[in-house]
Amino acid sequence: MGKLSVELCGIRLDNPVIPASGTFGFGYEFAELYDINCLGTISIKGTTREPRFGNPTPRIAECASGMLNSVGLQNPGVEKVINEELPKLRKCFHKPIMANVSGFSVEDYVYTCEKFDGVEDIGWIELNISCPNVHGGGMSFGTSAKDAAEVTRAVKKATKKPVIVKLTPNVTSITDIAKAVEDAGADGLSLINTLLGMRIDLRTKKPVLANRTGGLSGPAVFPVALRMVYDVSRAVKIPVVGMGGISCAEDALEMMLAGAAAVEVGAANLTDPFACKKIIDDLPAAMEKYNITLN
Ligand code: SIN
Repeated sequence: MGKLSVELCGIRLDNPVIPASGTFGFGYEFAELYDINCLGTISIKGTTREPRFGNPTPRIAECASGMLNSVGLQNPGVEKVINEELPKLRKCFHKPIMANVSGFSVEDYVYTCEKFDGVEDIGWIELNISCPNVHGGGMSFGTSAKDAAEVTRAVKKATKKPVIVKLTPNVTSITDIAKAVEDAGADGLSLINTLLGMRIDLRTKKPVLANRTGGLSGPAVFPVALRMVYDVSRAVKIPVVGMGGISCAEDALEMMLAGAAAVEVGAANLTDPFACKKIIDDLPAAMEKYNITLN
């Protein structure tokens, strides 16, 4: 067992670094650049029951130390993900995969999770109840402790895979949601999804994003994410995957000192497609420098 190895819900990872859903496609796209088997695992593009075109454009806006996205869960739907995307990933990635699942009703979530339950190399389901860019689903589950618990309970009955619930920071008390989800049977938590924000174009006087608002990610959100991971990991017993603005090995270690069992790297992949690999390569020296061991 290498010194970067960590455990996540009963499954060993070679290292704690996971590209975050929505920033790494279905993984195989990056295999043209480097051997993606160096990654702990991959959280694949958020998948819904039916295919989705996503929100109208523009759906990306830049800001200081970060970016806004309002992608709107564009994906080909669970059938195509299982039958077309996962076989391509399997050709170049030989580890358990994290399936990120979104929905618009409890039935949607259950349907998609049942489908992934039948796929052997899906190691975990990351239940995304925190997308801020869709109406009538996504974040609306994650902002209510009752709804978050209900969808978690229903999904837990539909799958034997470990269920990691992805939480939104757009709430008054993320620890209350975390505890409700833990009580409902979640095996782990991941946080934070993006922070709801907007930009206005001074020339047009209109919002930059066609959807008006979007989710802020990138280095700007790192201290917010760190604080939430710190609070949540002390409030629950299940493992927490920390994410939000991680862009170097030192950030990853800071997140793990806050209580994360593993980390997801998101926006950094969009500015440097080698970001995850560099973090993994740099971790041993950073751990040595700061005298930090994992686990
Ligand atoms: C999106 O597709 O809009 C982003 C996904 C998310 O924030 O959960």
